[in-house]
Amino acid sequence: MTNLTLVINFIVLCFVWCIFAQQCEISPHVQRFDCYPEKESSKEKCLERNCCWRLPIEQTNYTDKRLTGIPFCYYPTDFPTYEIISNETTDFGQRIRIQKSQTTYMPHDILNLTVDLIYETQERFRIRIYDSVNKRYEVPLQVPVVEKRANNTDYEIRFGKKPFAILVTRKSTGVTLFDSSVAPLIFADQFIKFSTRLSTPLLYGLGEHQQPLLINVTNEWKRLTFYSRDFPPMENINLYGVHPFHINLERTPDNQTHVHGQFFLNSNAMDIDLQPLPAITYTTIGGIIDLYIFTGPTVENVIEQYWDVIGKPTMPPFWSLGFHLCRWGYNNIENMISTLERMQSANFPIDVQWTDIDAMSSYLDFTYDSEHFHGLPGYVRALQADGIHYVNIIDPGISSTQSAGSYIPYDEGLKRGVFMTKFNSTELIFGKVWPGITAFPDFTNPETIEWWTDIASAFHEVIPFDGMWIDMNEPSSFVDGSQDGCTDNSLDNPPFTPHVHGDALSAKTLCPSAQQLLSSHYNLHSMYGYFEAQATNIALRTIRKKRPFVLSRSTFAGSGRYTAHWTGDNQATFIDMYFSIPAILNFNMFGITHVGADICGFLLDTTEELCVRWMQLGAFYPFMRNHNSLGQKDQDPASFSWEVQQIMKQALLMRYSLIPFWYTLHYEASSKSRTIVQPLFSEYLNDKNTYNIDQQFLIGRALLISPNLLPESNSVHAYIPQDVWYEFPLGVKLSNVGLFTDLDAPISKINVHLRGGFIIPMQIPGDNLVLGRGNPFTLVVAPSQFGNASGNLFWDDGDSIDSIETQTYNYLEFSLTNSNKLTINILVSNYKESAMRLDLIKILGVNTSVNNVIINGKSYSNYLYNIPDQILLIYGLDLDMLSQSSQTIQWTTSNK
Ligand SMILES: *[C@@H]1O[C@H](CO)[C@@H](O)[C@H](O)[C@H]1NC(C)=O
Ligand SMILES: *[C@@H]1O[C@H](CO)[C@@H](O)[C@H](O)[C@H]1NC(C)=O
Ligand SMILES: *[C@@H]1O[C@H](CO)[C@@H](O)[C@H](O)[C@H]1NC(C)=O
Ligand SMILES: *[C@@H]1O[C@H](CO)[C@@H](O)[C@H](O)[C@H]1NC(C)=O
Ligand SMILES: *[C@@H]1O[C@H](CO)[C@@H](O)[C@H](O)[C@H]1NC(C)=O
Ligand SMILES: *[C@@H]1O[C@H](CO)[C@@H](O)[C@H](O)[C@H]1NC(C)=O
Ligand SMILES: *[C@@H]1O[C@H](CO)[C@@H](O)[C@H](O)[C@H]1NC(C)=O
Ligand SMILES: *[C@@H]1O[C@H](CO)[C@@H](O)[C@H](O)[C@H]1NC(C)=O
Ligand SMILES: *[C@@H]1O[C@H](CO)[C@@H](O)[C@H](O)[C@H]1NC(C)=O
Repeated sequence: MTNLTLVINFIVLCFVWCIFAQQCEISPHVQRFDCYPEKESSKEKCLERNCCWRLPIEQTNYTDKRLTGIPFCYYPTDFPTYEIISNETTDFGQRIRIQKSQTTYMPHDILNLTVDLIYETQERFRIRIYDSVNKRYEVPLQVPVVEKRANNTDYEIRFGKKPFAILVTRKSTGVTLFDSSVAPLIFADQFIKFSTRLSTPLLYGLGEHQQPLLINVTNEWKRLTFYSRDFPPMENINLYGVHPFHINLERTPDNQTHVHGQFFLNSNAMDIDLQPLPAITYTTIGGIIDLYIFTGPTVENVIEQYWDVIGKPTMPPFWSLGFHLCRWGYNNIENMISTLERMQSANFPIDVQWTDIDAMSSYLDFTYDSEHFHGLPGYVRALQADGIHYVNIIDPGISSTQSAGSYIPYDEGLKRGVFMTKFNSTELIFGKVWPGITAFPDFTNPETIEWWTDIASAFHEVIPFDGMWIDMNEPSSFVDGSQDGCTDNSLDNPPFTPHVHGDALSAKTLCPSAQQLLSSHYNLHSMYGYFEAQATNIALRTIRKKRPFVLSRSTFAGSGRYTAHWTGDNQATFIDMYFSIPAILNFNMFGITHVGADICGFLLDTTEELCVRWMQLGAFYPFMRNHNSLGQKDQDPASFSWEVQQIMKQALLMRYSLIPFWYTLHYEASSKSRTIVQPLFSEYLNDKNTYNIDQQFLIGRALLISPNLLPESNSVHAYIPQDVWYEFPLGVKLSNVGLFTDLDAPISKINVHLRGGFIIPMQIPGDNLVLGRGNPFTLVVAPSQFGNASGNLFWDDGDSIDSIETQTYNYLEFSLTNSNKLTINILVSNYKESAMRLDLIKILGVNTSVNNVIINGKSYSNYLYNIPDQILLIYGLDLDMLSQSSQTIQWTTSNK
C-alpha cells in the first residue's frame, strides 16, 4: 500500500466518519430521541442500528441511565425515514402517500404508508397513518366517522416533505400544537414509534398511573407504560386501565393560557416517553397511528371534544350516589349482618351493602356460599324492602374443573363457544384465578353477551342483586400466560416489549397470542375490561330493566359509557389517600366520572385518624365506598369510638344533603359532557398557582374541597383562588382570597368552600336515598362579586333507563339577580311521581339588613337575618317547586 492510498483511505474514512459524527452533534441532550428503548443497550447494539452513542457530557455519574432518562443511543439527524410521494385533497381533508426507501432496525418495516388528515370539526383534528397495502388491526371503538371537511378550523396543517413530518399550529395564536419533525417516524409491523413537540412541559392525564396530577417535564425525563395490569397502585407501574389521553398547557403571545388535548387511539401495549424538549414519544407494538387533537381552548372545551369521540359517561342510578359498604372477609353472614346492624343502630345513612369473593361458594361466579352465607337471598330481599341496594362481585375467570353438569356457567359457555382459545386453535386457553383453573369469556363475541346475560339472569333469580362489581378483569391470572405456558411466536415474543411490570406481556395475565373473536389478545388485552363492562351493562339492563350500575377495575377510553370505577387495591396510608385525588380528577377527564377510591384503605390496617380523614374526603368522591381487605381490622364507621362516629356521620350527612347537587352534575356529565369533580386549574386557567394543585379539588364548579391529608396536623395549607368564597356549610364570606393560607383543620373538620355565583340545591337526608327521596329541598345561594348567582336541579325517578331520552324528568333553573330577586324557573316538569317541596333558602353575603321578604308577590314573615354572618335564612317555606312555571323570592333591605 502506497502512502497515497493510505492518505486517500484516511480521507475517505474521515469523510464518512466525520459526517456521521456531525449527524450526531445534537447539542442539548433534550433533543435526543431514544434509538434503543430496550433494556440492555450498548454501544455495539446502538451502532448496529446506525444510531449515535454518546454518554451525556456534563453528567459525571452515568452508571444508570434511568437516573436521568437521557438516552445514550439516539437518532442521527439523517436517520432514514419516510418522504411524501403524493398528496391529494379529499372530502375529509387530505390523503398523503409516504414511502421509505430502506428498512431500519425493526423486523417487517412497512415502507408504503397512507396518511389521512381529517378535519373533523372546527376544534377536532384526526391523523391516521396506516399500511397502504395490508389492512391492520384497529381499535374496535365506535368513533364518529367524518366524511366532510370542517371549515374555519382553529388549526392549520403543514407538512415536511422530506423527511415527512406534520406540523399543526393554532391559527388564532400561532402556537405549535403538534410537530413530528423532532424525530424519525418508525412504522414496523410490531413497532410503531413517533414523537411530537409539546407546547409546554406541563401536561395532565396519561392514565392509569399512580402519579401527581401535574406531569412537569421541565427538567425531567419520564416514561409511562400502558398495558392493563392487576397491581396495587404504585408509581411508575402500568396499572388496571389504559387512557392515552393528555391535556397540554399553551402560553399565548399575550401571556394567556390555553390548552389542547391529544388522544392516541391505540390499544396495544405501549410506552409514552416525555422529555424536557419538551416532547412526547409514543412507542406502540401494533395497530395503526390514529391520533386526535382537540384545540379546546379551555379544559372544559377539550373534555367535551374528547368525549364526542369516546362517548359520554353513563347516568348512574340515584341510589348509587349514596354510601356503599363492603369488605373482603365478612366470612359469614352473621358478621355482615352485625356490621350493618351496628351501622343502622348508630344512625349512619347507608345505601348499598356489598359482598366480596368470600360470599361465593368455592369462589365460583354466580354462586353464594349457602353454608357461611346461609339465608343471603332472603337477607338481600329484606334489605331491598328497606331501600338498601345490594351489589356482588363477579370475576371473569370461569372455573373449568367442576364436574360436568354441576356448574352451568362453564358447561353452557363451552357449548356456546364463548371462551378464549389458544393461538390458531379451537382449544381453550386456561389460566388460574380464585376458583382454580379457569376459562376466560371473550366479551368481544356477541354470543358471550347473551350467555353472560343468561347466567347472570339465572343467578338474579336466586339473589336479586342491584349492580355488578367486575373485578380482576385486566384480565388477571395467577399464572403467567396460561396453564400450558405460551407459544414462541411473535405475538408472545414481540421484537420489542414496552416496559410493562413483570417484563413480559404475559406476566400475570393470558398469553398475548390467545384468540378472541375480534382479534388476538395481543391487540385486545387492554380492552378486556371495556368489553366486559359493556356486556355487564347490557346484561343488567336486560335483567333489571332499570338503569345499570357496574363497577369495573379495568377500563379503557370510553368505558365511562358503561361503568363506574374505583382505583383498585390501595393501601391504608396517608400517601395513598392523597393519590386518590389526582386519580379521581384524571378519571373524570377520561370520561369515567363516577369514580372513587376504597375509603380508609383496602390493604393494611387503617387507623382511626386516617379513617376519619378518609371518610371526610370520601364523602366528596363521586363514588363513595368504604372497602377493606381480608384479615384487616374492621373499618366501617360504626366500628370506631363514639366521638369518631360523630365526625364520620357529619361527613356522611354533608354528602347526603348535597345529593341533588351531585345528581344534577351526573346529568350534566352524561348529557353535556361536564366533569363532576375537577382540578382548580380547569376553572382558573390563567392562575399559575393552580397548575400544581392536586390536594384540593372542585365539585362541579362550585364547591372547593381542601382535605387534611397529613397525620397529626390541625391545619391544611390550601390555595384559595381569587374569587368570592363562603365557608360551607356555615356560609360566612372569606375575607382573604387569592393566596395560599393555613386553614384550621382539626380532626372534626373538613374544609369546604362555596364559590360565589352559584346556587346549590340540597335535601334533608333520610336513612338512605330511597327513603329520603320525598324529603324537602333547601337552596344555598352564594352571590358573586356582582351580587348574582345561578344553579339548576335535575330530578327524575332515579332508576329508569330512558328518563332522559323520553324527557320524563324535571329540570329547574335558579337565578339570583343583583336586585335581591331569586327566581325558580321550571324548564321541564314531566316527572310528577314525587313532590318537590322547598323548605329553606339560605342566602349568603347579604350585607345590609333585611326588612321584608316577598314570595310570589306576598309578604312572608318566616325569615331571619343573621347580622354578623350576613346570612338571610328563609324557613318553613313548604313551597311546591312544581306548582308554577316561575316563582320569585325577593327581599328588601334598609340602608343603614
Ligand atoms: C453514582 O450513582 C450511584 C448509583 O446511584 C451511587 O451509588 C454513587 O454513589 C454515585 N456516585 C457519585 C460520585 O455521585
Ligand atoms: C402536493 O401535490 C401538489 C401537486 O400535486 C404539489 O404541488 C405539492 O407540492 C404537494 N405538497 C406536498 C406537501 O407534497
Ligand atoms: C410501494 O409503493 C411503490 C410505488 O410508490 C411500489 O413500487 C412498491 O411496490 C410498493 N411496495 C410495497 C411493499 O407495496
Ligand atoms: C365548507 O365549505 C365548503 C365551501 O363553502 C362547503 O361546500 C362545505 O359544505 C363546507 N363544509 C361544511 C362541513 O360545512
Ligand atoms: C415545573 O418544574 C420546574 C422545574 O422543576 C419548576 O421550576 C416549575 O415551578 C414547575 N412548574 C409548576 C407549574 O409546578
Ligand atoms: C408576557 O410575559 C413575559 C414574561 O413574564 C413578559 O416579558 C412579556 O412582556 C409579557 N407579554 C405581554 C404581552 O404581557
Ligand atoms: C395453524 O394450524 C394449522 C393446523 O394445525 C397449521 O397448518 C398452520 O400452520 C398454523 N398456522 C400458524 C400461523 O401457525
Ligand atoms: C354588599 O354586597 C354587594 C353585592 O354583593 C356589593 O356590591 C357591595 O359592595 C357590598 N357592600 C358592602 C358595604 O360590602
Ligand atoms: C353575573 O353578572 C356578571 C356581570 O354582569 C356576568 O358576567 C355573570 O355571568 C353573571 N353570573 C351569573 C351566575 O349570572
